[in-house]
Amino acid sequence: MDGGAAEKSLNAVVQDLALRMGQPGQSRLGAAFFTVVSRIHDIVTDLQPSAEELKAAIDFLTDVGHSADARCQEWVLLADVIGVSTRIEDLTWPCPDRATPNTFPGPFYRDDMPDRPLGADLCLDGFGESLRVQLCLTDLRGQPLPDAQVEVWHANPNGRYENQEPDLQPEFNLRGRFRADARGRVEFLTVKPAGYALPADGPVGRLLTTLGLPPQRPAHMHFRVTCPDMRTLTTHVFDRNDPEIGRDAVFGVRPGLLADFRQLPADAGGPMHALDLTLVLVPAGQAEDGRLRDASPLQKEH
Ligand code: BEZ
Ligand code: FE
Repeated sequence: MDGGAAEKSLNAVVQDLALRMGQPGQSRLGAAFFTVVSRIHDIVTDLQPSAEELKAAIDFLTDVGHSADARCQEWVLLADVIGVSTRIEDLTWPCPDRATPNTFPGPFYRDDMPDRPLGADLCLDGFGESLRVQLCLTDLRGQPLPDAQVEVWHANPNGRYENQEPDLQPEFNLRGRFRADARGRVEFLTVKPAGYALPADGPVGRLLTTLGLPPQRPAHMHFRVTCPDMRTLTTHVFDRNDPEIGRDAVFGVRPGLLADFRQLPADAGGPMHALDLTLVLVPAGQAEDGRLRDASPLQKEH
């Protein structure tokens, strides 16, 4: 069968499916199923894969499923590396001009991290260059959020999270949950995180390697901020001086999420670096009509 005939027959399948489904648009699931199947037929028409190639695709997806567990969710990783996680955030998160962009949490988040007092040091193994973090939590009008709670997690100077190497790092190293003070501020010590490559030993990592796609994430620190009457903000901020800043493997970098991990004078006797951030939350009732604006004022005078 030539290409034109194949296309005709595939289109007939899609038309038949529409008839069988009655009104596919009546339910969200029906509309999604019909759209996805139609687009897959478009792809098949374009690429005309062989039966062997279809089997290779099915084997890859089977491998992704077998590799997904509580420690590493390979399906989430696949959604991340094709940019779909970021795209959905952009399309669905109401982000007025001043708000901090919301991002995906990534696979290394733990919801059981311990409470820490303000000023605590998150570094439990003494490995790395000390970093003082000062956060200011506000609403869209710049009013402080004294009832905010902040979870923090990040990789160590080797680019590894504590739950990736439980035999090497103390449990909950570089993680903690803080309550803001009466001025909506949180201060803590930690160490400067490094960037890292995505796990290369699973099917998604092997796919990136085969395609020659960069597996690297620039250095960053993750935050989840919860506060009564506000939308929970999940985000991460990036070291703007990281050489990989333009090549994030999962497309998470936004101009509004770039931050300065400032070097402090060596003779000051305190931490070696400082990070000062303002994280701006959106009210819980905010209409879903906002779209991502990139110029959020992440760093302001404290
Ligand atoms: C992370 O930043 O922890 C992450 C996000 C997406 C994929 C892999 C890691
Ligand atoms: Fe991360």
